[in-house]
Amino acid sequence: MVDVRSLFDEAYAGSAPVFGLRPDLAFERMVLANDLHGKALDLGCGDGRNSLFLARYGFSVDAFDVSQPAVEKLNQTARRSGLKITAEVVDLRDLVTPPDHYDLVVADTVFCHLQSSELHDLTSRIVASLRPGGFLYVSVFSDCDPRLSEFAPLVKSWFSPAEFRRLFSGLDIGRCEEFPVLDRRHGPVHPHVLLRLIAQRRTTSS
Ligand SMILES: C[S@@+](CC[C@H](N)C(=O)[O-])C[C@H]1O[C@@H](n2cnc3c(N)ncnc32)[C@H](O)[C@@H]1O
Repeated sequence: MVDVRSLFDEAYAGSAPVFGLRPDLAFERMVLANDLHGKALDLGCGDGRNSLFLARYGFSVDAFDVSQPAVEKLNQTARRSGLKITAEVVDLRDLVTPPDHYDLVVADTVFCHLQSSELHDLTSRIVASLRPGGFLYVSVFSDCDPRLSEFAPLVKSWFSPAEFRRLFSGLDIGRCEEFPVLDRRHGPVHPHVLLRLIAQRRTTSS
């Protein structure tokens, strides 16, 4: 079986950012359009393009990833730039978060590295970690993804739009969309089909 941790560790050991310097564009737009602030949690942060954007925008960020080199790289960048990011090695299957704590949680192409049976419990912990009114941004590979990325052997789950929405049925889902994209950030240029979801925790229990 392919070892997720060691393949990502190898990729993150280089000095160049593996998934680019820019944050996910739709994620950036969501943050700016809603003028979000406060505390953020970046799950499967990698070497930190989304965390770095959030901290520069004024968020205080907790960032978790299973890869030690990724976490070290992000902590070093944050220290050098004086940014409020605390990155830790955490396997999301063991995630423990305080309830009602975060104004924003992002999980950008990390759920696909877990078995779908592991996700129901994890997503309820993530939802509980949001403050009422807090935002969630998640992206995953669609079951229409052509699986041509060099990291495709590390992917354990692909999602239909209906399955993906169901994981977050406890939230107010603002957008859930499937879209094709050409990935030029690592390896040979390759196509993906992604799903992204933007949702908000309800402010009342109704
Ligand atoms: C495709 S990368 C995305 C990185 C980052 N979110 C981004 O968009 O640039 C997936 C990340 O998930 C991390 N990952 C995979 N399985 C994980 C797990 N069980 N717990 C925490 N992180 C995990 C990998 O180490 C990798 O950094």
